[in-house]
Amino acid sequence: MLKIGPVTVDPPLVLAPMAGVTDRDFRLLIRRIGGVGVVTMEFISSKALVGGHRKVLELMHFSEEERPLSIQIYGSDVDTMVEAARIVESLGPDICDINMGCPANKVLKGCAGAALMADLGLAERMIREVRKALSIPLTVKFRSGVRENEKCFLELGRICEANGVDAVAMHPRTAKQMFSGRADWTEVARLKETLSIPVLGNGDVRSAEDALRMMAETGCDGVMIGRGATRNPWLFSQIAARLSRADSGGDSAALVPEPTIEDRRDLILTHFRMVAEREPSRFALHKLRKFTGWYTHGLPHGAKLRRRINELPDVETFLEAVEEFFDKLLVHQAA
Ligand SMILES: Cc1cc2nc3c(=O)[nH]c(=O)nc-3n(C[C@H](O)[C@H](O)[C@H](O)COP(=O)(O)O)c2cc1C
Repeated sequence: MLKIGPVTVDPPLVLAPMAGVTDRDFRLLIRRIGGVGVVTMEFISSKALVGGHRKVLELMHFSEEERPLSIQIYGSDVDTMVEAARIVESLGPDICDINMGCPANKVLKGCAGAALMADLGLAERMIREVRKALSIPLTVKFRSGVRENEKCFLELGRICEANGVDAVAMHPRTAKQMFSGRADWTEVARLKETLSIPVLGNGDVRSAEDALRMMAETGCDGVMIGRGATRNPWLFSQIAARLSRADSGGDSAALVPEPTIEDRRDLILTHFRMVAEREPSRFALHKLRKFTGWYTHGLPHGAKLRRRINELPDVETFLEAVEEFFDKLLVHQAA
């Protein structure tokens, strides 16, 4: 049973933080499908949070139904991070996470995210001071290093452990790699061998088979999934079904049922109505286009729908087009 401090993570599966993706609607959607142990918010700038930016505070609303929930913060200034962590705790999440893995230039230039892996002294001070300021569990998420010949994940992992961090998550690519190449799971295995606090493996888990393989090959305590969940929001429930079968002595390799076209239609429309209700139209359209690309990937005539929606002017016509697309698919299926 995975525990992050006193928080039970059951099943040991975590929705990775993804800026522009893991907003309240998406987290709720994943939570309602089930099978996820912890959901994580999009990263939050410590500077913006401490500055009291209204948009950031709005972004940080969450509901009880999402729990356990982790809030991730990033920044380069220790005092600001400490202050941000205090604000995070006052909002009542279950876990606070520090981002030490973001490879985006905007974040790196501010010496935050993965740039902290190039300054382990600063990383250590930040972890120590944030830990002192918090009473809820603290986790740190990082990559393998900034660049190929400067991998320092084992050192950073040891720093986390020595300073009272409750668990770490590692995406084993360098910041320079961004998303190219493949995540090197052997590095997760090395981190797991080195530390006694829980280690979450992250990177390139696209199927239930991948998740089980990552656990078997690395010995990691839990699996964190990002992009796989955008293409298949049922992924957590599929992995959870396999894990619980293995726990009860059944065949963990036996296939779990795939979502039907009706399941997909219901999920997409539910999600899109949630977005449409909450967001001003321009942002909603942008978000819906992004998710439609992921959700309809691999479906017959999906490309046609994706082309069509680029031209639609508002959310209502967008929703109609998506409904029509699924109605046609269902008719074809029945024929
Ligand atoms: C659109 C997008 C946004 C992301 N935003 C964040 C973020 O806010 N914080 C963070 O630590 N990682 C972020 N990541 C990285 C993911 O959390 C994860 O580490 C990475 O995608 C590898 O896992 P995956 O192969 O399961 O997607 C982001 C990734 C994507 C694709």
